[in-house]
Amino acid sequence: MKNSIVHFIGAGPGDAELITVKGARLLGEADVVVYAGSLVDRELVRTHAPNARVWDSAAMTLEETTRVLADAYATGQRGVRLHTGDPAIYGAIQEQMAELDRLGIPYAVVPGVSSAFAAAATLKQELTLPEVTQTVILTRLAGRTPVPEREKLAEIARIGATMVIYLSVGMIDRVVAELLQGAYTPATPVAVVAKASWPDEEVIEGTLADIAAKVAAAGIAKQALIIVGDVLGARKHGLGAVSKLYDKGFSHGCREGSVA
Ligand SMILES: C[S@@+](CC[C@H](N)C(=O)[O-])C[C@H]1O[C@@H](n2cnc3c(N)ncnc32)[C@H](O)[C@@H]1O
Repeated sequence: MKNSIVHFIGAGPGDAELITVKGARLLGEADVVVYAGSLVDRELVRTHAPNARVWDSAAMTLEETTRVLADAYATGQRGVRLHTGDPAIYGAIQEQMAELDRLGIPYAVVPGVSSAFAAAATLKQELTLPEVTQTVILTRLAGRTPVPEREKLAEIARIGATMVIYLSVGMIDRVVAELLQGAYTPATPVAVVAKASWPDEEVIEGTLADIAAKVAAAGIAKQALIIVGDVLGARKHGLGAVSKLYDKGFSHGCREGSVA
């Protein structure tokens, strides 16, 4: 009998080549795939799992997705639960893993490229820059899923770090209003990246003063990330400081510095 452990796999942000080698291999070996059809491209599933029976979880309940994976396990088939980006970020996998624990079904998680990093790649933008910020906050506005009071955007905006805001582009007016209550100003640069890594990806750049109007004009209401912070100014206004890592006078574990 095959080793039928269930795998939760990060499909990456969209581009079928942005899944990990391990994720692609496991999909290729899968008999049953349950994938998040609202965000994962059906074509990606077809490419990597041509022989699997495929279920779109968009219209399924937790009980139903668990049943499909449990049945696969019970019959010695290889089951994969495929999530967009990285499954650990807004993937609702904890409850699925708890169900498998309850049923005594073994599983493993294979990480993926979260859309935050695809968006940074699209922008050709490092999210951490010396003397600007060394912190990235991944967050969202409360929607139907509540956000703890202490994590209100206006609260965490007081740090002034780079923020990557998921699941919120449809509420961009509220995002801007809350960010302006923190360390950001109307001049703080913002980028909205829709469908990062897909052929029809879109980038809107502006400031907190004008981004909401630009996003409304572009008609972007979903599947987009809002990235905000002073790091975004570096491509326009240059770098204030550079990393010491490649400085010729800077020694580290892999290189002796040569101070002239
Ligand atoms: C339910 S969350 C899943 C996030 C996913 N686990 C990840 O790591 O990217 C869905 C949200 O992720 C963001 N998202 C997912 N894929 C995206 C993409 N290719 N481009 C931009 N944003 C994306 C959007 O904010 C979307 O509303």
